[in-house]
Parts: sequence; C-alpha cells; structure tokens
Amino acid sequence: MPDLIRHPEPKAEDMILIIDFGSQYNQLIARRVRENRIYCQIEPPDIDISDIINLKPEGIILSGGPSSIYEKNSPKIDKHIFSIGIPVLGICYGMQFMIYSLGGTVERAAKREYGFAKLYIKKSIGILEGIEQNTWCWMSHGDSINKLPEDFIVAASTDNTEIAAVYNENKQFYGLQFHPEVEHTPLGKKMLRNFLLNICGCKRSWSMKSFAKTAISEISQSVKDDKIILGLSGGVDSSVTAMLVHKAVGKNLTCIFVDNGLLRKNEAEKLKKTLSRNLDINIRYVNAGNKFLKALTKITDPEKKRKIIGKIFMDVFEAEAKKIKDAKFLAQGTLYPDIIESRSAFGGPTAVIKSHHNVGGLPKSMKLKLVEPLKYLFKDEVRKLGKTLGLHQDLIWRQPFPGPGLSIRIIGEITKQRLTILREVDDILLAEIKEAGLYRKLWQSFAILLPLKSVGIMGDQRTYENIVAIRAVTSKDAMTADWARIPYTLLAKISNRIINEVVGVNRVVYDISSKPPSTIEWE
Ligand code: XMP
Repeated sequence: MPDLIRHPEPKAEDMILIIDFGSQYNQLIARRVRENRIYCQIEPPDIDISDIINLKPEGIILSGGPSSIYEKNSPKIDKHIFSIGIPVLGICYGMQFMIYSLGGTVERAAKREYGFAKLYIKKSIGILEGIEQNTWCWMSHGDSINKLPEDFIVAASTDNTEIAAVYNENKQFYGLQFHPEVEHTPLGKKMLRNFLLNICGCKRSWSMKSFAKTAISEISQSVKDDKIILGLSGGVDSSVTAMLVHKAVGKNLTCIFVDNGLLRKNEAEKLKKTLSRNLDINIRYVNAGNKFLKALTKITDPEKKRKIIGKIFMDVFEAEAKKIKDAKFLAQGTLYPDIIESRSAFGGPTAVIKSHHNVGGLPKSMKLKLVEPLKYLFKDEVRKLGKTLGLHQDLIWRQPFPGPGLSIRIIGEITKQRLTILREVDDILLAEIKEAGLYRKLWQSFAILLPLKSVGIMGDQRTYENIVAIRAVTSKDAMTADWARIPYTLLAKISNRIINEVVGVNRVVYDISSKPPSTIEWE
C-alpha cells in the first residue's frame, strides 16, 4: 500500500479531516470544504489516532456510508476522536456512529427515508445558525437515532425523523441525519460554512498560490541535489507536476515521454512542440510504437490490453530511466480521486471496475522514491494550479486522455489500419468540437471504432463498412458523467464529414449513456 495513505503529512495551514465511511458523496464533502478555501483530506476510518493528532485538524467530518452501525463489519474510527477537543460534524452514518459511540442508540427506521424532506428547525444555533425558517434537506437513510446521549439536544426534525439534527454545544459536536453537501439541501452550503468558519474557526487562506509555494519548498527539501525523473504524457497532470518539480529542482529533473503508437492523429508532434515551447525542461522522447503494437496483436480483452501496455510502458520507461545516472526520485501526477478510488484495491469497500489507476504502479526494481505533489488535488484544482504556474492554455485545457490511448477505443483487435481509421474519425470530431467552442466545456469527447460492420449505400453502390460511435461527456472529476447534449446540427455535421471523408466508415452513432451505470470509455 502506498505510504501516503497510512501516514498523512502534517498540515501547513488550517485543515479539516474527513473520515471516509464509504459514502458516495465523500468527494463532494471535500469539494465543499475546498470551495471555502480551506484545505481538507479524506482518510479511511482505520487511521491511527496519533496520525489525527499529528495532522492537527481544525475540525473532523465523519461522512455518511452504506453500513448500519450494528452490522458486524461496519466501519468504525477510534473513539478517542471524541476526547481530543476537536469539533466533530457527523453526517448520516457519521452522525449515527458519533451518537452510538457516546451512549445513544440507533435503530432500523420503520420507514426508509430517501429523497427530499422538509426540515423543521428547532434551534438555529451552531451549524444551523442563520437558518431560521423551515427548509428542504436531502435524506438517504435506513437507520435512525432513537435515543440521544444526555448532553445532546435535538436541533431539527423532519416528518419521518424526529432526530434529524443534533448538537452538543459544549463539546462542539454536531450531527446531521441529512446530507448538507448535496445541491438538494439548498442551505447545506451555509450549514457547512457555519461549521468550518464559526465552529472550527478555520481561516480561508488556502489558494493555489499558497499550495504551489508549499509544494515547491517541500519538493526541494526532500529531493535536495538528487536527480528526479518524471513520465510526461502531455496531459495536464503530468505537465503541472513537471512545472512544480522543475521550479523546485531545475535541471535535476528529466522528463521521459513515451510514444506508444496509440496516440491521436499528429498528437506526438503537437505535444512535442507545445511541451518544448512551454516547459524549459530536459525532455527525452522515446518512440516505442512498434513494440506496443506488436505485443497487442490479436489481443481483444480490455484488461489484457491494459496489462500489456502497462508492462511495456514500464520496460521502456525503465530502460530510458536507467540512462539517467544516480536518479533517486520519480515524480508522478497522481490526483486525489486516483488515491481515494484505488483504496478499494487495498481492501476498501468499492469494487475495482477498471485497472487504470497509476497509484502504486512503480516497478520495485527501480528503487526510486515517489514524489506526488498533486496527490491531494482534484482535477479542476490542478487546472487552476497550472494557470497560477503559467502553463500553456493548450496543456491546461487538454481533455483527459487514457494511458492505453486508442487501444481501448478500438473495440476488439488493434491493427494499423483500424488505428488509422479511428485517428481520422477522431480528428474530424475534435476539430468540429473545437470549432463549435465546446472543447473546454466537455470533460472528454472522442470516437470509438466498433467491431461491427453495417450495410450502407454510397453513390449507387452497396457498402459494408465499419461503425463508429461518438462519445462526449460532461463531468467534474470522471467519477460520474453525463452524456453531453450536443446540438443536433453539430452532430449532423460531424456524422456527414466522417462518412464522407473517412474511407471504411459508413455509419455514426451517438452514445447517450451516463456514468454510472455506464463508464466513460467503452472498454
Ligand atoms: P471510465 O471509463 O472508468 O473512465 O469511466 C474514467 C476516466 O479514466 C480514464 N481512463 C483511463 N485512464 N488509463 C488511464 O490512464 C486507463 O486504462 C483508463 N481507462 C479509463 C477515462 O478516459 C476517463 O477520463
């Protein structure tokens, strides 16, 4: 398991600790805290109490979760958090855990409460300060609290749930049965702000400028005069990492860019140009396309494709890295969602859907120490950081592109000919999306080549050719995504151009599925 999950670093500024009891809304809680320019970290419930004390959080938020407090393996955190003098906010399961741990009782509710509920405020103090009128809240629970510890007071109720908000003013403990972090609780943001600013006394000082300053100084302190290498993909994450590390260690950083032959049309050349114009950094380019394509011959299983690509990438990268004598560190652009999601790979509650996270992907034989300066940031924060650091617009706004590239967008077997078809299709799609001013608004937009043929008619001739799908999604962080409502006129233009200009394609379809239950990529 990566070291960073178990031993969080001490904070440099005010911070909030979020304990992850498995709620689907955890990242949303983190985003709400950060929107207030306050730093926060999400940690698993088995975090050591000494690590919590070391972090010196201004406040602790216990998240919701799918478990019932009386289940045998329900997640629990060391109860000492209630005796270290730090304000605590429990949300849903987090509230039930707090109340149960402090002597109250929880029972299965007669009626499961899910959706909007009218919240009747009884005491507008603490977290509910300034919320005098009855308001709506979003409920999602099967258990309810039926008895409070003596020193707790009910602050609000709903029609189904008598104990919907509670507090212990003396100890600064607050509990909400509903979810203040979701948009469906209209005054939820105000409630959270009350907790962060009034109850925890946090200063709103966290900004990308202060983040960059701290990160650069931390990197230079840990790397010192040693050499450090970085795998540059041309995406915003690795580019921002390169800039931060370069500012910290200058020419001791060498970046390695591996062309795996699975990039978009002219992408390698374009990236080379922008990268060398924008980043005055040592970059080594390795053209390994043939190696990848050879190993992928006749492979159709998506996970096998990923494994093969991952392995060859490591081999190529390692061979190049070995040429950099005395390198001691490896920088990676790992983001916070990667870390949170990949905890599941280490025994967490969520199932692993695709093996695409780069956390822990370092070959042991390289014996390099990891530097991951973005490991607590979300994507939009990384973009802001890139802007603060002066990164070129084209790199900041580049849509995410998966490591295995077009290989997972060619369903079935990958051949040079199929790669060429997909590249041409994809190129037209992107040009039209950019022309329509939609590129930045979409999280991703791309084409998929299907392993199916369909009958068509061109001139007077019957054709029997490939089908391509267009996928365009909006998203904040790829955890969830919605299919983009692209105007019909634009879809028509894209389809026309593809069928007329790309030999071998006679049908275009548009993917109208959201994530979940679908995923963004098809494989
Ligand atoms: P899914 O398809 O899981 O994708 O909804 C979520 C995000 O991850 C990207 N993705 C990958 N990135 N290697 C990567 O580096 C992969 O194997 C991979 N598979 C999916 C996807 O493009 C989206 O941004």
